[in-house]
Amino acid sequence: MTLPRRVRLVEVGPRDGLQNEARPVPVDAKVALIDALTAAGHAAVEAGSFVSPKWVPQMANTDQVMARIERKPGVAYPVLVPNKQGMNGAVEAKCEEIAVFTAASEAFCRKNTNCSIDESFERFAPVMEAAQKHGMRVRGYVSTVVACPYDGKVAPAKVAEVSARLFAMGCYEVSLGDTIGVGTPAECVAMIEAVAEKVPREKIAGHFHDTYGQSLANILAVMERGIAVFDTAVAGLGGCPYAKGASGNVGTEDVVYMLNGLGIEHGVDLDAVARAGRDICAALGREPASKVAQALKAKLAA
Ligand code: HMG
Ligand code: MG
Repeated sequence: MTLPRRVRLVEVGPRDGLQNEARPVPVDAKVALIDALTAAGHAAVEAGSFVSPKWVPQMANTDQVMARIERKPGVAYPVLVPNKQGMNGAVEAKCEEIAVFTAASEAFCRKNTNCSIDESFERFAPVMEAAQKHGMRVRGYVSTVVACPYDGKVAPAKVAEVSARLFAMGCYEVSLGDTIGVGTPAECVAMIEAVAEKVPREKIAGHFHDTYGQSLANILAVMERGIAVFDTAVAGLGGCPYAKGASGNVGTEDVVYMLNGLGIEHGVDLDAVARAGRDICAALGREPASKVAQALKAKLAA
């Protein structure tokens, strides 16, 4: 088994985690969460999105969040941007990194962003132009990389095609999202291998939702194939508002615990991230979905 010596974690809890909450989360709670995740050692914390507040009201205060977080040098605070209007918001908020997002299935792309996959790329063109002008780094997301809640199974070749377009367009990394968390290790490996024919492995990230409890197994399987960047959400928060029934991303605490056990470096302090998760869960009035967070509860309370 060959595993990477070091893994880079991208904390997506403040965006992917909170975008699905029934009630909007106050700016104060978001800022406290992002600052705590930075203090826990994360080098990338996805802070929000500049999308339509009619579509995702939970992200409507991203401009205020970006104005108030403590931006630690060397830490990236990417925000999701679907179109030129979102890019204007990101520029005004002085964001240094954005993420564009599309899908490998037409039906999900339309439900999520009201356009076809081709149209999503047409929207990205002015966004990329502005990113270059303002010196912003751009990450790319592909959703529904294993299956779509509307179209069913998705062919790895389709994921590879969309990923290659994002990479060719100038994304420094392509994050592959199992949006509804249905993938199992062999399927994820097959999908990654197809993408790796078109995008260098070191430019690929895994973004696993944990609906069927397969995330850790999927991460381990694709790490063996040379993938060393993973998106995780503190406390296992979240889901996508346009993928009914999908649960949160793999919990940051769960991934950190597994990486610690494997002796793989990642730079995140387990107790500190678990405390950040405990506090945001208290603010939301819920229990963490992360098993490791649950296991650490008594220790943190002591
Ligand atoms: P649309 O309705 O087609 O847009 O939405 P439009 O250009 O026709 O504009 C309609 C209205 O939206 C106008 O306002 C615009 O001003 C406004 P009105 O005149 O009606 O008052 N508008 C905006 N407002 C703020 N910011 C903007 C913006 N753009 C238009 N950027 C749009 C198209 C993409 C905007 C919409 O579909 C949308 O916001 N969708 C939200 C998608 C989203 O955030 N999904 C969740 C994130 S993706 C995800 O979770 C998956 C991921 O985690 C990976 C994985 O797990 O798979 C990344
Ligand atoms: Mg997601």
